[in-house]
Amino acid sequence: MTGDITAYIESFDSEPGYLDWAAFGPLSPVVRSEVHADAELLGTGRRSSVDLVNEHVDQSRTHAASVLGVPAEQIVIQPSTSHGLQQAIYGLSGTLLLSRAEYPALTIAAARAEAALGTLRAAWLEPEHGFMTPDAVRDALTDEVTAVAVSLVDFRTGYRADLGALRDVIGDRLLIVDAIQGLGVVDADYGVADVVCANGYKWLRAGRGTGVASYSQRAVDRLAPCSPATPELPTGCPWMRCPSHRRMLGRSSSRRPIRSLRRAWEVPSTRSTMSVWPRSPRPSRRGRPA
Ligand SMILES: Cc1ncc(COP(=O)(O)O)c(C=O)c1O
Repeated sequence: MTGDITAYIESFDSEPGYLDWAAFGPLSPVVRSEVHADAELLGTGRRSSVDLVNEHVDQSRTHAASVLGVPAEQIVIQPSTSHGLQQAIYGLSGTLLLSRAEYPALTIAAARAEAALGTLRAAWLEPEHGFMTPDAVRDALTDEVTAVAVSLVDFRTGYRADLGALRDVIGDRLLIVDAIQGLGVVDADYGVADVVCANGYKWLRAGRGTGVASYSQRAVDRLAPCSPATPELPTGCPWMRCPSHRRMLGRSSSRRPIRSLRRAWEVPSTRSTMSVWPRSPRPSRRGRPA
């Protein structure tokens, strides 16, 4: 064990005094060497090499599952935390309770989904100090609330949400957790959450693009699939003729859902999103802040 700890400490080979882990964790030596090795394999174009790298994806799911304490089948590898949260929030119907002080990965997704899709209402909470305590959530719950979204660790204050206590308060509603500021550094009962999204580029020192999301069976049952990346289609079935694909698109006979989805992914520009995340002043053409 001492040996493991020593090797672990020695792996921190970035500039001495580096403290900005909540923003970005300098990549660990093992991550750097694995990335280089995989890049070489992918550079060959050989089927066997590409398959070998693909196997690493399955291994990552297993590792992520063991860190989160959930079955590997619940894990999806994602480009980022925000991608995982968007799937959860755009796929949700009903009312989502969340704090106005959350990181924009939650607030902007909720505001855009509400404005663009018409299936979700955002119920904004302004808890004291931005702390999503079980009491604050209990006081704000109504029968309409179908889900509660929360950061495991608040990005400004470091306040840590008590997931178990939140689960007790919200009952059967979906619990959606942005865990990026906690994954790898705090022990949490991830198993009580329905959606857990995080990324490895902070405390795990794994670099960008190492996002992960876990969706419980309850989440899978209640969220409409809305990621265009990997719909579950039978292998070899031409998309436009594939029954499950047509069924998915044909939920509404018009093209409206697709148009709505496209609008939801637009760069935030409406007043509703600006009110939750003010933009910093930008230089005007003449060099003065606009
Ligand atoms: C609380 C929180 N959520 C989400 C993000 C964004 O994560 P990602 O880049 O993986 O989408 C950050 C980044 O700082 C964050 O602090």
